[in-house]
Order: sequence, then C-alpha cells, then structure tokens
Amino acid sequence: MQSRMHPKYYLSPEIFEREQQKLFRKAWLFAGLKTMLVEHNAFITRKIAGIPVVIQNFHGEIRAFENVCLHRNALIQTEAVGKRPLVCAYHAWRYNAEGQVDHIPDCDAIYGFSAEEKQELKLREFALHSVGNVLFINLDKHPFPFEEQFSVAFIDLLESSSNSYDTEVMVTTWHAKFNWKLAYENLRDANHPRFVHPKSLAKTVKFIPSVDQPAFQESNSPLSETSPSALRQEMRRFSYGGADAPINDLPHFGWHDQVQRWGSQDMYYNWLAFPNLHIASANGGFSFTVEHHIPIAPDHTDIEIYWFTTRKKQPYAFSNQVLLAQMHGSKVVVGEDVEIMEQVQAALHMDAPLPTQGAYEATNRLVERWYTTLMANDHEI
Ligand code: FES
Ligand SMILES: [Fe+2]
Repeated sequence: MQSRMHPKYYLSPEIFEREQQKLFRKAWLFAGLKTMLVEHNAFITRKIAGIPVVIQNFHGEIRAFENVCLHRNALIQTEAVGKRPLVCAYHAWRYNAEGQVDHIPDCDAIYGFSAEEKQELKLREFALHSVGNVLFINLDKHPFPFEEQFSVAFIDLLESSSNSYDTEVMVTTWHAKFNWKLAYENLRDANHPRFVHPKSLAKTVKFIPSVDQPAFQESNSPLSETSPSALRQEMRRFSYGGADAPINDLPHFGWHDQVQRWGSQDMYYNWLAFPNLHIASANGGFSFTVEHHIPIAPDHTDIEIYWFTTRKKQPYAFSNQVLLAQMHGSKVVVGEDVEIMEQVQAALHMDAPLPTQGAYEATNRLVERWYTTLMANDHEI
C-alpha cells in the first residue's frame, strides 16, 4: 500500500506558495453568487490566490477586475459587498465597464497625463464563467477551457440546481486553523459523520461509506500520463454532485411551502467542485449551503459560508429568520468538523506518521496521487 501525503503538504510555506501558483492561479475557482449581483453597480470583493479582486455588475454585465487602483494602489471597492460605481476612495479615479479609467478629477490641471498615458490606464481583467447562479473565475492570462475542469454532467446538474437559488443570502466567514486540503479529505469521507456528527447531521442523513474496488486499485499505481492536458482530464474526476444519501422522515417546516423546491427526492444533495467549493442541501432541495474554503496560509483556511433557500414563491415576512435558523443548525455541524480538523492540523509535524488510507478512501487517494504529481517539478495544468 502506498502512502502519499507527506505532512509537508499541510505545513510548508514553500509548498503553499507552489500550490497557489500551480493550482489556484491556473484553475477555475468559485468567485461568488450571481444572486448577490443582480443590480447595476452591485459588487463583491475578495482575495483570490493573494490577488484582490472586484466582481461588479455593469448594466447587467458582470466583470471581474483586479481591485487595485492604478494611481497609487488603494483598494477601489473597500467593502466585501455593496453597490457603488467603480471609483477609488482615495483620489476618486473612476473606472468604466472595461476597467478603463474614464474620469480623473482635475486631470489636466494637476496630473498632466498625455492622451496615450490615459489610454493605458486599464485594470487587469479576469475571465469569468457562470453556471446558473454560480460564478467561477480564472486568474490565468490564458485560461484553459472551463469544460476541461468540469464534466458536462456536473455542469448540467449545477446549472439546474443553482438556477433555483433565491436572492436573499446570509453569509459568514470562519477563520479555521487547518490546511484547506483537510476540509476536502473530510468532505469526501462518508465514514466520518456517524462518529463526528452523531447528534446532528448523522441523525437525519444516513451516510454509507462504500468501496470502489477498481478506483482503489488504480490509486495504488502512479499516474500514467502527466502532460498538462492529461492532468486536467484527471482533475475532472474530482468534481461531482447530486443525491448523496437518503434522509429518513424529512422534517416538514412551514417555510417549505413558501419556496419552490428543487427536485423532489428526500435526499442529502452534495456537490464538490474541485479544488475548494462545496455545495449541499441537507433537506432535499428546499435550501442550500455553499461552503468556500479559502487557503490563507498552510495552517489557516477561511471558510466562507452562504445560506439561502430556493426561490420564494412570493416574499414572506420571516424569511430572514429561516436563514438564521439554517445558519445556527449548520454552525453545529461545521463546528464539529472544524474541531476535528484543527486537532489533526495541530498534531502534524514534519516527522508525523504518514496516513494509512483504506479502500473506501479511493477518491481521496486519487486526488492525492494527482496533487503530489502536480506539485512535483515540471508538472502543470
Ligand atoms: S489611489 Fe486611487 S485614486 Fe489615488
Ligand atoms: Fe463532517
């Protein structure tokens, strides 16, 4: 049996930086929800792989730019979410939908820029791709096609489900002390809920670990092809979604009648979009949770969590309370996972024992085989 994940992958600042370059600045990543950008000038800001980014609606068109002013590097939009024109707070340079500076107060009188100099004042723009209401971004200058990262089946299901998202969204961020990869090893692990969540999630959802013998066999041998396109093709296997586990006696709440349910199965739905996005519905498609894991440092991950129901049939008075209750419920479950993962991280050191994974962990083993290959010299996606 082959052990692959050396503790250095969770501890080393040098590997963290390599990961940012080779994975997060190359792959399509979760950028936000279109449901939070419905109006002209609505924006969200975030740091992606170390780069401040603003994503803004310009008369219905959503664009992504580097959120750093070309004058003297101030952040242009300073709030996490909001609605205002793309104007720098420092000396009020204004940018248009192309990211071009189109107004500088007293420009001719005090700056003395030539027409050519003004022409060159354009923000770096990033590629966006939307699937239903989910926005993805790619920081690379020449992004590879979105379809090379995600399968048609995955895209179709994400599109159908995310088109049902409501525009009222609650968001919070947890600052967790573990490496982002631990979160995904945990999310791909159907064996943990009965031990970690016996009184919460596992009470209603029956997760059953299963063994995929061919995948397990495959995970024991090295990747045969390691060209960029072969690595991208392999990466497509790591994003999947849909009905995951049955919910027995799905509890019925009054608000369920106020929204348009997505699907009709009493199932726990789960989407994993590699590398760092997790979407779930723990009540058979009445509401969703989006979890976005943002790597900050080898031992530090921000978990940004969004709660929303499916689209309301019409506005109702207590919808905010519904989201608050969802948030409190998932706070318990996320808290149980965070506690375990922080303990795992805290126990790691460079000579820690290498993990011993069994057959039910075939997917994690395949991801780790791919990941360690990518991290090795000369390999890229
Ligand atoms: S730094 Fe933005 S206008 Fe001066
Ligand atoms: Fe969990």
